[in-house]
Amino acid sequence: MNLILIGFGNVGRALTYILWEKGDRLKGLKLNINVTGIFKSDGGFIDHNGLKLGEILEKGKQHQSWVPEASPLSYIAELPCDVVIEMTPTNVKNGEPGVSFIRKALEEGKDVVTSNKGPLVVSMKELLSLADKKGCFFFYEATVGAAIPIFTVAREFLKHDRILCIEGILNGTTNYILSRMSEDKVSFDDALREAQEMGYAEADPTYDVEGIDAACKLVILANGLMNMNKHLSDVEIEGISRVTPEMIELAEEEGYLVKHIAYLDEEKMEVAPRLVPKNSPLTVGGTFNVITINTELSGSLTFIGKGAGPRETASAILADVITIANKRGGIKSG
Ligand code: HSE
Repeated sequence: MNLILIGFGNVGRALTYILWEKGDRLKGLKLNINVTGIFKSDGGFIDHNGLKLGEILEKGKQHQSWVPEASPLSYIAELPCDVVIEMTPTNVKNGEPGVSFIRKALEEGKDVVTSNKGPLVVSMKELLSLADKKGCFFFYEATVGAAIPIFTVAREFLKHDRILCIEGILNGTTNYILSRMSEDKVSFDDALREAQEMGYAEADPTYDVEGIDAACKLVILANGLMNMNKHLSDVEIEGISRVTPEMIELAEEEGYLVKHIAYLDEEKMEVAPRLVPKNSPLTVGGTFNVITINTELSGSLTFIGKGAGPRETASAILADVITIANKRGGIKSG
């Protein structure tokens, strides 16, 4: 199976590393993965016969396969490719450059996997119907809750059911900050810096802190799980920048934790700091995310897992790639 990777930041690198490190395990799944292109914003590593991932991780742009200024838009049709993996940073204004890369890939009949929330928030319906028209898979498990397989569970196990409302913690960075402030009395700024250093935060961390990232995920859940057609402007958003150590302490004295809660039902969509009883399933710490879905037949289901982190996100991307390989009966022609 031939892959093109677009984006070589924290997630792109983690995926490249996993593909290299776990090559034997993937072969055990009868999955022979070949990466023919890896693109950054200023060029790409290109080899029609398959890139040597270990060498690229070691040598970077010094590697002989590096082509300055190469754009995926010129190579998606040309390189052997079954699946395009789009991992550029989220841009909520117009979804670019991710929208153009995904659109081009689908127009060329390639299956697509993305971890990028921007294109889904801006153009989810358009891209899903293009995928449908072209007979392509377009999966986005990594966009919400990183390694939590929420869309896969809904697709595979809840087809017969109806999701009525969703509540949870959808941003790892803010949950990490609130946990560090509460458990270790670390300052807001120091905790944010730690989250950035560990690769949890968005390229622009105000997306995390002001609640925009969590709101994007709520939109993707609404459209992906509840068949809605929502946009970012439909979400009432409040971030965590006004949460003070004093508020956290006061809440704790009364038996509550301050958590950044996302909520969605037919009537409303909101993201805001809330007081949550200490024994609630919503009180996960660190970078954990939690997603509770209330359904008509299955009742309440709660999923907890690492919601941020390059490795966890790359793992979700790889799971989508494997699903596609299975659905395609192994390998599709390149
Ligand atoms: N910045 C995001 C978070 C990354 O902290 O949750 C995962 O989407």
